Amino acid sequence: MTTTDTDRRLFRRTVLDLGDALLRPFGPDLDVAGGIGPALLAASADPAVARWSPLGADGPVVPETYLARSDKWWAEGTAATFAIIDAADGSLCGNTYLGWTNRDDGIAMIGYWLLAAARGRGLATRATTAVTRWAAEHAGVRRFELYHAVANGDSCRVAERAGFPYEGTLRGSYTYDGSVYVDEHLHARLASDPFTD
Ligand SMILES: CC(C)(COP(=O)(O)OP(=O)(O)OC[C@H]1O[C@@H](n2cnc3c(N)ncnc32)[C@H](O)[C@@H]1OP(=O)(O)O)[C@@H](O)C(=O)NCCC(=O)NCCS
Repeated sequence: MTTTDTDRRLFRRTVLDLGDALLRPFGPDLDVAGGIGPALLAASADPAVARWSPLGADGPVVPETYLARSDKWWAEGTAATFAIIDAADGSLCGNTYLGWTNRDDGIAMIGYWLLAAARGRGLATRATTAVTRWAAEHAGVRRFELYHAVANGDSCRVAERAGFPYEGTLRGSYTYDGSVYVDEHLHARLASDPFTD
């Protein structure tokens, strides 16, 4: 590890194009058709999102707080939170998050959620691949890690499709509800792993 490696390890605001959707940095300036606030509230009320992601884990999201926190992370370069926005109607489809877990060693963790209406068209897989490629090329991420509860088969399939092979099961490693610790799968990919798409 050199000072130069760590210095270049920052997430800088960018827009990524998936064709049928755009990935845009979450922040107070972002608004989407029908309003970002209602869309975030709907996402946090979705049973699968509330069960498996931090959004909604503590009750309904406060959109202003969510957007301000995302904006702060982008300003610091510590985490990249992208809104997945439908190119056809401008509606919010979901989120892809990438944050450092060990910046000195170039290790970052990725996560995602989709509104129910946006599932089943590969958006989570394609957004994960696009964010991974961008961060490998422009933010100096060396290793990407993806964790999901063993019972979350939908997320396991996203990981495999996005080129994150299974590396092992972590016992009692995370609590989603603040009380029960569940086992998680760890999937990961290296920046040097080839992209197939
Ligand atoms: C996890 C979650 C994002 C997965 O959503 P998803 O829509 O199943 O995943 P994708 O967007 O990658 O879409 C995959 C589906 O689209 C299909 N698909 C269509 N075009 C595709 C393409 N170009 N690329 C990949 N898949 C494509 C796949 O075959 C798959 O369909 P299937 O479910 O019938 O097998 C969603 O279930 C969710 O938001 N869950 C709650 C939050 C959560 O669990 N987050 C992860 C915490 S670790």
